[in-house]
Amino acid sequence: MTQTILVVFGTRPEAIKMFPVVHALAADPAFRVVTCVSAQHRGMLDQVLAIAGIVPDHDLDLMKPDQTLDGLTAALLTGLGGVMDAEKPDWVVVQGDTATAMAGALAAYYRKIPVAHVEAGLRSHNIYHPWPEEVNRKIIGTIAALHFAPTETSAAALKAENVAADAIHVTGNTVIDALQWVSARIEAEPALASGLAGLEARFAGKRIIGVTSHRRENFGGGLEAIAEAIRQIAARPDVALIFPVHPNPNVRKVMEGALGDLPNVALIEPLDYPHFARLLGLAEIMLTDSGGVQEEAPALGKPVLVMRETTERPEGVEAGTARLVGTDTARIVSEIFTLLDDKAAYSAMARAHNPFGDGHAAQRIVELLGNVR
Ligand code: UD1
Ligand code: UDP
Repeated sequence: MTQTILVVFGTRPEAIKMFPVVHALAADPAFRVVTCVSAQHRGMLDQVLAIAGIVPDHDLDLMKPDQTLDGLTAALLTGLGGVMDAEKPDWVVVQGDTATAMAGALAAYYRKIPVAHVEAGLRSHNIYHPWPEEVNRKIIGTIAALHFAPTETSAAALKAENVAADAIHVTGNTVIDALQWVSARIEAEPALASGLAGLEARFAGKRIIGVTSHRRENFGGGLEAIAEAIRQIAARPDVALIFPVHPNPNVRKVMEGALGDLPNVALIEPLDYPHFARLLGLAEIMLTDSGGVQEEAPALGKPVLVMRETTERPEGVEAGTARLVGTDTARIVSEIFTLLDDKAAYSAMARAHNPFGDGHAAQRIVELLGNVR
């Protein structure tokens, strides 16, 4: 008998990390895969759906400008619950730590539908960093019947919370599957990632730093400090910063106000995944507060400076490719200058390795879902 698997996601990072799972489920006749997007993100989600070739079966279209966490969560619970009542899935699969993932797990629990959690067990042990993701993960971890931990570290965190060992499986992180898939697509069809050519020409001869920033816990001070650091870094004529700006109005306002006038800072629209992969390739250093970029950069051997106080992804830091630099302006500037000016410091961080996975996580997840029938 085929099992119905309801795959729920809603933001850009969930879509990137879930599309390999959707592809693998769709290729296995043992499953009927039903996709439901909350569209907590609209434009950035649609960019991923387009490249991955996924047309969702259900689209709740829930994004509102500058949405609040309580309004969004309330709408998610009722919207996702309605889809579960209609589809009656055997399993609900959620990914990561967003409001969509947390509400998807909770709505499934209210219906006693078992939940499988992709990217389980990440913990910073600080409920305000990242906020609200640390608690979202813990809620999902309490509900899930199957925990797909990306690494041994995340599996150990779940065991320390008394999750049954036989419910935890180390699969690797599906982000590496996604990155390998998109890299192969670009190789076969370079035009998929050729849209940065204008910027590449404009910044020829300069050393490229790729930047992303969007964390809610950095609103109200942190973002301003980050913007000031970028201004000071951009005072160097030998560098150029390429910064695809998150569409959250709280982020845009600060970054456009502080950086809009600098000739060697390109504030651009969010890049689709092939173009972001291209930016990862062009950049000498990544400066970010993103979770996913902390996983992708080590896989490509790109030093990544993480503008957070703590991380739930210690593997990159332990391996030496990632460094936590917080949101203090002087610290960010000095860490970037060290990497730019000290060849030994740069080489020590620039080492390609994959602490987060081998590119076969989605296949393992689908096999594990098949085994629990
Ligand atoms: C959310 C996730 C966070 C994840 C991040 C990835 C939660 C609580 N947070 O962040 O874990 O790291 O996504 O980016 O679930 N917007 C657009 N177009 C888009 C996307 C967003 O205009 O395609 C704007 C809207 O005004 C929206 C705002 O950005 O209201 C914030 O979106 P939201 O999903 O709430 O983002 P975050 O909570 O910051
Ligand atoms: N990303 C992208 N285009 C961009 C910026 C990021 O495709 O302009 C990808 C990036 O490669 C990573 C993911 O989006 O896979 C990270 O998303 P984000 O930083 O929004 O969320 P987080 O990972 O912090 O939850």
